[in-house]
Amino acid sequence: MMTQMSRRDLIKRTGMAAAGIAALGLLNACGGTRATTSTQTHTVAIGTASQASLPTPGASGLLGVLDVSGTEIPLTATTTTHAILPGKNATLMVYTTAVGGWSYINPIFRVQTGQSFAATLANNLDERTNIHWHGLQVEGRMDGHPSLSVAPGASTRYAFTVRNRGGMYWYHPHADGTTAKQAYSGLASLFLVEDDDERALAQALDLRFGETDIPLVLQDKQFDASGKLVYAPQPMDRQMGWYGDVPLVNLTPSPTFMAKTRLYRFRLLNGANARIFRLAFLQRGATAPFTLIGTDGGLLARPAPVRELFLAPGERADVLLDLRAGRIGDTITLQSLAFDPMDNEMGMGGMGMGRMHHMDGTQMAGTTLPNGTPFPLLTITVTAQVAYDRQIPDRLSMIAPIDVAGANSRPFTLTQAMPSMQWLINGTAYRIDESSVKVQRASREIWVLQNATMSMPHPMHLHGFLFQVLERRGSPQHVAALGTDSAGRVPTDVGWKDTVLVWPGETVRLAIDFSHPFTGEQTYLLHCHNLEHEEGGMMLNYTVG
Ligand code: C2O
Ligand code: CU
Ligand code: CU
Repeated sequence: MMTQMSRRDLIKRTGMAAAGIAALGLLNACGGTRATTSTQTHTVAIGTASQASLPTPGASGLLGVLDVSGTEIPLTATTTTHAILPGKNATLMVYTTAVGGWSYINPIFRVQTGQSFAATLANNLDERTNIHWHGLQVEGRMDGHPSLSVAPGASTRYAFTVRNRGGMYWYHPHADGTTAKQAYSGLASLFLVEDDDERALAQALDLRFGETDIPLVLQDKQFDASGKLVYAPQPMDRQMGWYGDVPLVNLTPSPTFMAKTRLYRFRLLNGANARIFRLAFLQRGATAPFTLIGTDGGLLARPAPVRELFLAPGERADVLLDLRAGRIGDTITLQSLAFDPMDNEMGMGGMGMGRMHHMDGTQMAGTTLPNGTPFPLLTITVTAQVAYDRQIPDRLSMIAPIDVAGANSRPFTLTQAMPSMQWLINGTAYRIDESSVKVQRASREIWVLQNATMSMPHPMHLHGFLFQVLERRGSPQHVAALGTDSAGRVPTDVGWKDTVLVWPGETVRLAIDFSHPFTGEQTYLLHCHNLEHEEGGMMLNYTVG
């Protein structure tokens, strides 16, 4: 087995010598050379028996970490070929860049709070595109609004000061009508922000990004027999969302990760178009305890012990897994557990549309892995014993509750139009040049998201500002069971958020402080991060001025 350092050096050298495509291939090849002691067999047929190592961020190549320090980054949105399924090339859309002689594919930007960031996006695709910096508090014209996209062959520039707390944010396209397809095709990566709390935690727990602090980008995709990506949503898929039947972690099916007997930090992003994950770590068939330390907008005030969490498209969860009691050869599986997706249970003549959708794969371009089906994502194998005596601090950060005394409440209903089946916010579909919601700058408001009973779970995402979840009411039993306070909130609600999952029948109240330093009227979005729902019109513009 190659050591982390030699693998990194190899990638670095190749990245310097060759084009990004070669680096991408090499990363996979390196993965293949890693020995695995896992004897676990997956019970779900996922179209491949890959034993590839989990790609972890190195100094370049795929998901290479690019420290941003005042330099202008020349990003290109382009296509490349990459074998996601072993030996079968798929065409992906990716972001590439070369900085200081190193090549990157879907680079992970790393920035300190307060630093400035600047990138030029060259569009080498044959359709319009742009970049949205998901979770970052930037001014409207830098936010990747669908009305601000760039034509094939043209370029555009993004520049902003990073004002966010430390945390794992991400970036992906947001052009009119193509967000779902382009993000699915591979255009998505991470944006790490570091601050004092982050540095203190890394120091306290001896965490190193890419080694003991590992981002896990969770997705699911469909492939044809030749290994090419399939994205062909039919009207029913536009209603339900596009699901894959191959779960991927860091663009790799069923990878393995070699671990030592110590604490690991995993930073999870749900980068899927529509799939919700109910995440747990399974050991000998039982769920293992783990610790939630952060959400979309960075660290929680205090660590929270959990055994499972729901992660919907767009959301992040920052967790610690304690492997100190592990023995060499032990395996722990990151699993998505079974759950009822509650897809419009009473609709379609009393039959769950999700189930009907998936019953006959020959009639509809459905997946064999419906939302709510259990499957493994990642196998963690303990391969080395080390001494490790660090303790999780009981204070991680400070989170001051937004003062909503006397704040205005604004209702948002999530419903479905009949017979068009289009998903709507406040009874209307998205209109790119209209803004129905006008917010007073520096005001504090309570936004009330009310999902219909006959509906689907909708991960609602806000641009421009992060929010705090005040209350969750009318939750289905499998969500209520995770509630930890009298407001019905679950552990992942208790921190800064930019995306919140609203289940059928639920009403979720959010506190938002619309203070920011940008002058003039700013236009942002509220939308469902089920990207087929977003594309289908479940989105609205709001302005702050
Ligand atoms: Cu990650 Cu408007 O989306
Ligand atoms: Cu966003
Ligand atoms: Cu939705």
